[in-house]
Amino acid sequence: MKKNKQKYYHIITYGCQMNEHDSEKISWLLEDLGYVWTDTKEDSDFIVYNTCLVRENAELKVYGQLGALKGLKRQNPDLIIALCGCMMQREEIREIILSKYKHVDIIFGTNNIHKLPQLIHRYEQTGDTIVDIIEDSREIVEDINANRMYSYKAFVNIMYGCNNFCTYCIVPYTRGREKSREPKNIINEIKELTSKGYKEITLLGQNVNSYGKTLNYNYSFAKLLREINKIEGLERIRFMTSHPKDLSDELIEAMASLDKVCEHLHLPVQSGSNKILKAMNRKYTREEYLLLIDKIRKAIPNIAISTDIIVGFPGEREEDFEETLDLVKEVRYDSAFTFLYSIREGTIAANMENQVPDEIKHNRFQKLLDTLYPIFYEKNLNYENKIVEVLVEEVSKNDPNMLTGRTRTGKLIHFKGNRELIGQLVDVRIDKIKTFTLEGYLV
Ligand code: 5AD
Ligand code: SF4
Repeated sequence: MKKNKQKYYHIITYGCQMNEHDSEKISWLLEDLGYVWTDTKEDSDFIVYNTCLVRENAELKVYGQLGALKGLKRQNPDLIIALCGCMMQREEIREIILSKYKHVDIIFGTNNIHKLPQLIHRYEQTGDTIVDIIEDSREIVEDINANRMYSYKAFVNIMYGCNNFCTYCIVPYTRGREKSREPKNIINEIKELTSKGYKEITLLGQNVNSYGKTLNYNYSFAKLLREINKIEGLERIRFMTSHPKDLSDELIEAMASLDKVCEHLHLPVQSGSNKILKAMNRKYTREEYLLLIDKIRKAIPNIAISTDIIVGFPGEREEDFEETLDLVKEVRYDSAFTFLYSIREGTIAANMENQVPDEIKHNRFQKLLDTLYPIFYEKNLNYENKIVEVLVEEVSKNDPNMLTGRTRTGKLIHFKGNRELIGQLVDVRIDKIKTFTLEGYLV
């Protein structure tokens, strides 16, 4: 690469918010090295794939994309191709990459993003393929910033890793053991964001309700929320993901009493059948989950509740699936992420014998959507003619005269307005109800 020539980078991100936020950190590191973002791979000097391993689809997409990059590397031998994220934490995947995708130059993991500048330097010095993985880091690196995607809402990590070992899930094997950030580091990060005008933060962790357990003093997630709620200038606090087994009364009380904590809870249920919940190692029963929902709704009557559901987990019989449908009808979720069970090598469920055939999985998946969608619509009907507070996020992708934003309950709102309102809180009266969005006008 010629000296002084402007260098461009491009990042492709798969998976969850945790990965999105990691990509914001990678972007910050690259810009610190003088790289500038480009939208196209063809113009890039540095391409990073931040990968996900939670389901097979995300994994296959990466292999497909990498194959297609061979030509680009041939045209531009100076192009650096890097792979990071959850897939890279698995040795068998690294072996596939090293043997079949020799045009990949740098491989790094989820625990050593901060080392990227060093790795690039080593690659430029030696031209060797660099592989740098930390299996399970005990320390949390704090001196890394993020180049945030938005100027009014931001992700903030509060903990890393997961100790739960749900039997279907690869995350504990890719993100390592649970570790909490020091509260003062979290609070300082949020104070800095609000001083720059950020209004909404989303606290990120695989299991935020067990926040504080790895600190060497007594500190809970509810306490963290109470401290964050005091930060001046901050308007909205969101968090994800919550595990039902750790959702305490103290937390419900904090959510109900703290004015900045939004009236939205993402509470993955995964299945409505006790037999399947046990096989998944979720550590709660259907009855306990329903009681929890009841308690939360009593404390925060207007709360929106969303969930994750897996269909076709090994051993799921028709009657187990029916119990999931019943639970969905009983809870009446505002929204849900639904997944076909995907075998993840290395997890306990991958070796279970009674895998559900694809066709049955697909049928159940469709039935689940047919049950969920009318409920989403009916829940949205409660908003008809109401005035809601909306944080304006962007110009609508389909109509340049329309803006989109979200209510405190997480509902996506479309309304007519000027782009200068982006980043502001406005009041909108809802006049049209749809299954996934609401429409209204500024008041
Ligand atoms: N197959 C299908 N869905 C999965 N999830 C996690 N692992 C799997 C898997 N192997 C889903 C869970 C989790 C969400 C982030 O992804 O529902 O809550
Ligand atoms: Fe995976 Fe369960 Fe941990 Fe969530 S709580 S990351 S589903 S193991």
